[in-house]
Amino acid sequence: MWLLLPILLYSVIFLSVRHIYSHWRRKGFPSERAGLSWQFLHQAYRREFRHVEAICEAYQAGRERLLGIYCFFRPVLLIRNVELAQTILQQSNGHFNELKWDYVKGYKRFNLLEKLSPIFSSKRLNEMFGKAEKVGDGMVRHLLQTIKLGEFDGPGKDLELDLQQLLRVYAINIIGSLVYGLDVNNFEQQDHILSSYVNHYRVSSSMQSFTLGRLPKKSSFTYRLRDLIKQNVELREDGGLIRKDILQLLVKFRNGNDLSGEKWQVEHTYEQDKVLSIKRLAKVAEDLLKISLDAIASTTTLTLFEILQEPLIVEKLLAEIKELSNSDEGHLKFEEFDGLKYMDMCLKETVRKYPPLPIIERICRKTYTLPNTKFTIAEGKTLMVPLLAIQRDEKYFSDPMKYKPMRFLHSQMRDNDADSCQDLSKHDAFLGYGIGGAQCVAQNFAKMVIKIALIKLLKNFHMQLDSTLAESMEINHQPAPFIQTKDGLKVKLKSRKIKS
Ligand code: HEM
Repeated sequence: MWLLLPILLYSVIFLSVRHIYSHWRRKGFPSERAGLSWQFLHQAYRREFRHVEAICEAYQAGRERLLGIYCFFRPVLLIRNVELAQTILQQSNGHFNELKWDYVKGYKRFNLLEKLSPIFSSKRLNEMFGKAEKVGDGMVRHLLQTIKLGEFDGPGKDLELDLQQLLRVYAINIIGSLVYGLDVNNFEQQDHILSSYVNHYRVSSSMQSFTLGRLPKKSSFTYRLRDLIKQNVELREDGGLIRKDILQLLVKFRNGNDLSGEKWQVEHTYEQDKVLSIKRLAKVAEDLLKISLDAIASTTTLTLFEILQEPLIVEKLLAEIKELSNSDEGHLKFEEFDGLKYMDMCLKETVRKYPPLPIIERICRKTYTLPNTKFTIAEGKTLMVPLLAIQRDEKYFSDPMKYKPMRFLHSQMRDNDADSCQDLSKHDAFLGYGIGGAQCVAQNFAKMVIKIALIKLLKNFHMQLDSTLAESMEINHQPAPFIQTKDGLKVKLKSRKIKS
């Protein structure tokens, strides 16, 4: 009898695990060989804890357009073909909605991202530009001061500094200023709540798994950030403060005001008619902080990492920067950023090689038949588009590990002049900002603030990267999903001025 119980228990566990790991085979999908071997379990465990490399390995193993894999006990459908991925992401509206962006007004359910997209229109960005540039100027001032202080230690010595760390602070200041409406300077005030939040978030993210990542997580920082938002919203609603930033537009949205117009002033509504509660508004701000920070910092850092190894690229960028007509006070103009074509290609190449979001994940909300296939994915099952693996696939990008901004010249020409370039290949496997309903609403904002940082640094400093260090530099996704250099990006800096 006592022997029967463990045998029974073991059999139940064994059969349930076997049932889970046969999901894709039972449904008739092409799938990996699953079993209870040490190798398989180790692989499933690595995937569960967001090891981007483990997902890339699954992408590289085999040729089928779809592959059923397992992230721990979760069956996941990996899309390995870029056309299929694009079609699914564009046409599957309603089947894979992200619940976190849903909100209900009256009896209707809306998608918050669609409603908030006018925040990032060119017109609005143009008016926010000054605030972002001020943050860039703060970074230059901080560096000049540090160089000056360094000269007391040893005249003529170059300043060596970790650009990755510097650009993280730059990104915090940008989000602090534009999303939280605060004139923060974390170059000087390092214990600011935003810096503490970011450090806490990085540590907690490193322990997240795909499964546990779905659980709601709150820390005392969430409440402190909510208080900050509350005070700032009151200043704008009751105190009549107008500050041209993202928060101002979120407050306008909360009051049911039209965002597509030109006004920045908040037109008040009664409390019961407010579209977003303070709690929800603070959650949107916190989500923007989480999504944007590493994307801004890593894309700027890794662009510098690549271009500083290629003097010709730096020369081309400097030539483009020289063409900008600065105002008397040396201010940049947002309207001229469209002319920075080569810089655009560099950013696109960085996002191709090092996508800050390496994997797009979707949970099926309504049974979905995959286009041009006989396969149907059931509600609750997960689908993954491995951006990093696709964008480093030789099939789509020749010599994928080489940093070649000019590979995007054709798509650049196509964007500029669709009529005269009809003979160019229409297909573009670049998915760095996503595609379809959930694509990055803030991509123009991201490009604007990254370009400001690059221009300010290139214009004011001569930067030198140790080439032997660069060769051995380890760039990974640990803690996932953030992409970063393992030991920072140490660069020697000297001040310079380029003549316009
Ligand atoms: C180089 C910088 C950036 C890149 C490469 C990037 C990339 C992406 C990608 C690939 C998606 C699609 C996710 C999906 O389909 O599930 C996305 C969504 C999004 N991005 Fe960005 N992003 C960048 C910067 C930013 C910034 C600065 C902000 C905010 C200020 C932002 C806000 C968002 C939001 C709100 C979404 C919506 C979906 C979500 O993830 O919940 N992004 N981004």
